[in-house]
Amino acid sequence: MSEENSLDRVFAEYDHRDHESVYNPWPRWKKLQSGPALTYSEKYDGFHVASRYNEVCEIARDPQIFSSHLKQTTIPTLVTPPFPPINYDPPDHLFYRVILNPFFTPGKVAAHEAMVRSMAAKYIEPLLASDGFDVPTQLGIPLTREVILKLMGIADCPAEVNKWADDLIFLYEPEKAAANLMGFLAAEVAKRRANPGDDVMSGLVTAEVRGRSLDDSEILRMSLLLLLAGLDTTNSAISGSIWYFVQHPEARKELLAADDTTWRLAMDELVRWVSPAPAQARTARNDTAVGGCPMKEGEMVMLLFGAANRDATEFPDPDSVVLNRFPNRHLGFGMGPHRCLGSHLAKLELQIVLQALLPSLDQFELSDPNAVVWEGASVRGIRALPLTRKKK
Ligand code: HEM
Repeated sequence: MSEENSLDRVFAEYDHRDHESVYNPWPRWKKLQSGPALTYSEKYDGFHVASRYNEVCEIARDPQIFSSHLKQTTIPTLVTPPFPPINYDPPDHLFYRVILNPFFTPGKVAAHEAMVRSMAAKYIEPLLASDGFDVPTQLGIPLTREVILKLMGIADCPAEVNKWADDLIFLYEPEKAAANLMGFLAAEVAKRRANPGDDVMSGLVTAEVRGRSLDDSEILRMSLLLLLAGLDTTNSAISGSIWYFVQHPEARKELLAADDTTWRLAMDELVRWVSPAPAQARTARNDTAVGGCPMKEGEMVMLLFGAANRDATEFPDPDSVVLNRFPNRHLGFGMGPHRCLGSHLAKLELQIVLQALLPSLDQFELSDPNAVVWEGASVRGIRALPLTRKKK
């Protein structure tokens, strides 16, 4: 097969959920970037793929043409109700963001620092005293769950919440999982209506913007998104960063010796490098073109934030972690109106975990590189990362 034909096959067979995408997405992302502005995959009834930095930004910044609402933002499309704000376009999108933004500003998030630090210490101290531990299941997943539940004011939650979240995000049983999660959250909404507090869910219950308050369905769907968006992505950033530092002891030392500015820059750089949410989608509202490549009304395009984050035209030495990389206009948290609501919270959690764990991480090593388990769809992350205490 000629090189051109084999590239055409790579484009046509691109699947962000297959083994290669989940375990080693980078070589194929580079091939996609060597093609036209949009390539076309035949999977999942067909979709366009934008993999280069400039085109991904162009689409993400233009919700008038590239809708998050028409077919939502995952491929394959979910048969779930739209979640505000991520599945809404302007002007509805802004209505929901105006309600949510005040809870996640840098100042509001900084006020949670002591709480997150003490939660992280509760998990990390016993792990560091042990002979080995699994990073996502014993730290990343339970910590991120505890933080978001606390902010939402949820005191008790069913043990199955993470399984339901996985079933929805990784598309195993999305409709059933969404129904289970909404059932559990409906009881929480009723409690807040009866007795509002100062948590985020109470804020949704009492919010009034432009003379309108939220109905129960809106509150439920917003709460479900908050719960999901904060779980797998942040675990991926935490576990993916620990995976990096276990393999790069010199970078671990460099970060431990770094000043506050470098720490701040490093959190963004790690999110760029890990790219926990690499593949979000949009639908063309009308016939259009991107970089000269036509798209028809109703067709979907995948924004490969993960590939764009490794685009050498924007990021010199894109595959390396450069702890003090600046400027760093990465797309790990997206771009445009839908840019991540929880970015400050996620970076706070990541920094707190690394500050607590890195000083002792040199006492541990990967138990077995083959035991690291990745999982992926529109979110990509580590499900198992076993570490063992080094023999003296
Ligand atoms: C490292 C962790 C995280 C990463 C990598 C991440 C990534 C992203 C990305 C790429 C988007 C844009 C999606 C799109 O354009 O379609 C997004 C949106 C969003 N994220 Fe995050 N996220 C993280 C953590 C969080 C946390 C902790 C929360 C909890 C509040 C959160 C809440 C949201 C919400 C509500 C949106 C939708 C915003 C909108 O549509 O206006 N995220 N996130």
